[in-house]
Amino acid sequence: MPLTMEPMMSATAPQETLLLREISKADAMACHALSRAVNWPHRAADWEMVIGLGHGVVATLGEEIVATALWWPYGETHATLGMIIVSPAHQGGGIGKRLMQALFEQAQGRSLMLNATAAGEPLYAKLGFVPCGGVQQYQGEALAIAAPVLQAGMSLRLGRPADLALLERLDLQATGLARKPALAVLVACGECIVLERDGQPVGFSILRRFGRGLVIGPVVAMKREDAQTLIAHWLHEQRGQFLRVDIQADSELEDWLTECGLKPSGLVTSMVLGETPDRPGPMRLYALANQALG
Ligand SMILES: CC(C)(COP(=O)(O)OP(=O)(O)OC[C@H]1O[C@@H](n2cnc3c(N)ncnc32)[C@H](O)[C@@H]1OP(=O)(O)O)[C@@H](O)C(=O)NCCC(=O)NCCS
Repeated sequence: MPLTMEPMMSATAPQETLLLREISKADAMACHALSRAVNWPHRAADWEMVIGLGHGVVATLGEEIVATALWWPYGETHATLGMIIVSPAHQGGGIGKRLMQALFEQAQGRSLMLNATAAGEPLYAKLGFVPCGGVQQYQGEALAIAAPVLQAGMSLRLGRPADLALLERLDLQATGLARKPALAVLVACGECIVLERDGQPVGFSILRRFGRGLVIGPVVAMKREDAQTLIAHWLHEQRGQFLRVDIQADSELEDWLTECGLKPSGLVTSMVLGETPDRPGPMRLYALANQALG
């Protein structure tokens, strides 16, 4: 992976030279400290997972990692960017922009998508990204809700390792992206359920440990009622646990999640530089795996 190792002086720490290098799993603990400094909930294990699935850079000043930026290739034409963090002590000095340029070099030729916090949006807008949607984070402890009642012909079953090709096919219909490596890791570290109508798969969801508790996502379904069933299963099974779900802003799940006891906690703007992928449907992505992977 080509990387320009162009040193740069930090505006806020001129005595040290800022260096960029490839990120590796060995950086997970230091990255964890960085994300805690900006109040992100990721554990070191969450960093290891996203580092293992993608590429990216860290910026160092002396021994300290002061900034990170990652990207994940999906097929040959698209990628998502994320985990873009500059330590609070070094923000506003051009480091974020420099890291974005390093990602542009590495991911050259691809359309790039990301979910921007309010802090990040001005930087991405200056680099040419345009808004293309939104993601609403919901979290908290769910109220005691009943197990979902399935209509005639509907059934829920646990996902099996042999379902990976099926999950990839449904996910591709929903996102337009080839995400098999990410799905394989998500299934391996979490639990998966598949919703069937008359024996035919019509959606799936994955639950895994993340941050302060558990996260539900991705949730892929043909319609909102099915997405609710795929979320309600986990809310019921994991009552008493801290749960998070990152839904597409136009998914019409907000009122129902609020009734279930989860609270809205931050809206981010989805942005793209280039083309959004063609999403053939009829599946739709109701909740993300996380804001970085999409
Ligand atoms: C967002 C973040 C990565 C930006 O990094 P940074 O090093 O502070 O940004 P830079 O100094 O490189 O700024 C690059 C450009 O964006 C502009 N910019 C950055 N933040 C801005 C803001 N909040 N408002 C307006 N402009 C802003 C700068 O003025 C600069 O423009 P210029 O090149 O024309 O002067 C950093 O603030 C951060 O880590 N925030 C907390 C974590 C986070 O929210 N990350 C984004 C996740 S999507």
